[in-house]
Amino acid sequence: MNIAIIGTGYVGLVTGACFAEVGYHVICVDCDARKIEHLQHGESPIYEPGLDDLVKRNAQAGRLRFTTSTQEAVEQSEVIFIAVPTPPLPDGGVDLSYIESVAREIAAHLDGYRIVVDKSTVPVRTAEKVAETIKRYGRNPIDIDVVSNPEFLREGFAVEDLMKPDRIVIGVGSDRPVAAMKAIYAPFDAPLIVTDTNSAELIKHAANSFLALKISYANALSAICEAAHADVKAVTQGMGLDRRIGTQFLNAGLGFGGSCFPKDLSAFIKISEQLGYDFRLLKEVQQINADQMRRFVKKITHALWVLKEKRIGVLGLAFKQNTDDIRTSPSLELCRQLLREGATLRVHDPKAMEKARVVLPEATFVEDANLVAEGCDALVIATEWPEFTRVDYAQARRTMRTPILFDGRNLLDPVEMKSLGFIYHSVGR
Ligand code: UDX
Repeated sequence: MNIAIIGTGYVGLVTGACFAEVGYHVICVDCDARKIEHLQHGESPIYEPGLDDLVKRNAQAGRLRFTTSTQEAVEQSEVIFIAVPTPPLPDGGVDLSYIESVAREIAAHLDGYRIVVDKSTVPVRTAEKVAETIKRYGRNPIDIDVVSNPEFLREGFAVEDLMKPDRIVIGVGSDRPVAAMKAIYAPFDAPLIVTDTNSAELIKHAANSFLALKISYANALSAICEAAHADVKAVTQGMGLDRRIGTQFLNAGLGFGGSCFPKDLSAFIKISEQLGYDFRLLKEVQQINADQMRRFVKKITHALWVLKEKRIGVLGLAFKQNTDDIRTSPSLELCRQLLREGATLRVHDPKAMEKARVVLPEATFVEDANLVAEGCDALVIATEWPEFTRVDYAQARRTMRTPILFDGRNLLDPVEMKSLGFIYHSVGR
């Protein structure tokens, strides 16, 4: 099977590399010539565990190619995946201009039947629009099926999630593309749902919004636990062990960030509004997320009183562990607020330092996590990197001006930190 993937971002590149790994011939297309040149030299533009090896191995085996030519990809493939960005608009809606322009490009080069698959996260009814657009702009009589096949990859676990998915969703307008789509996913052992395109598109927004809702629920509980002198970790564990609820995505902390949840929530609220439904529940999810950051900053200012000229160490800059992605990172939002109040920052992240340097030029970047606390009035854990549980906190405490620790991800044991001499603050405990 020959497969084209248009767009080599997180989703497109990981999908292409994993499809090649199971034996398909994959052509990845991107309009960014520099990116394609790097990929042709076996250099992956993003940090994602396992991805570099997959790209190199499959490129060497001749199963994975990179090009800037959509024409080449369309002509040489039976199935074309669209994995281009769908960024947010100022009103919370979704900018579909990249999708539309790819649809027109595909139309310009079609020379026979193709299956066109939407992998990007898109509003409900986009597959219908893509089909209409391709038909309208095609020069020859057009014979296509447009399929919606949303991705559910977590950054930092994208290869693992693609190779071992919880489920595969295939949204179709007719039965014709079902056999080919099932064949593509046959090597990936997972339940497969075949439905209409609109339902498939809704599944993605519904799933991400529900996960964000779980996090906001835990964060709301954390506020109650603080007021009631209870432990949110115990409460969420006790809840989560009920199999109907589940323990995952119930970690209270600084709130959710990243390139998906904030954007997908706003989009789903907007889409619902356009469909005549006021999704107040999701508006509250956003509100709780914003409040959580405010409450955390208040905790810091309450303990340090004046932030001007205070030196604060920050462990973690990425929006979560296992990634170098800093887009909509709660940690960066926190850093900016602390800087605005006049604090000076010493920061560290295992993977995101290079990207963060560009957006936080005022901060001092420290290569060794163990040295971040030196001379600081407070140390903050802002990202849930497991590495931060292994910092030498006894030594860190000795080098601090005042030993105040704010654990924004509930990574550490409060009793142990207090026994090391820290004034220890966490979230909901
Ligand atoms: C998410 C979805 O999980 C994935 O299925 C979808 O395809 C893309 O969006 P991702 O953005 O990579 O993936 O991050 P995720 O692991 O879901 O975490 C999102 C944010 O929530 C992070 O900022 C993380 O720190 C936060 N989070 C997560 C919590 O605060 N508490 C939790 O319990 C879990």
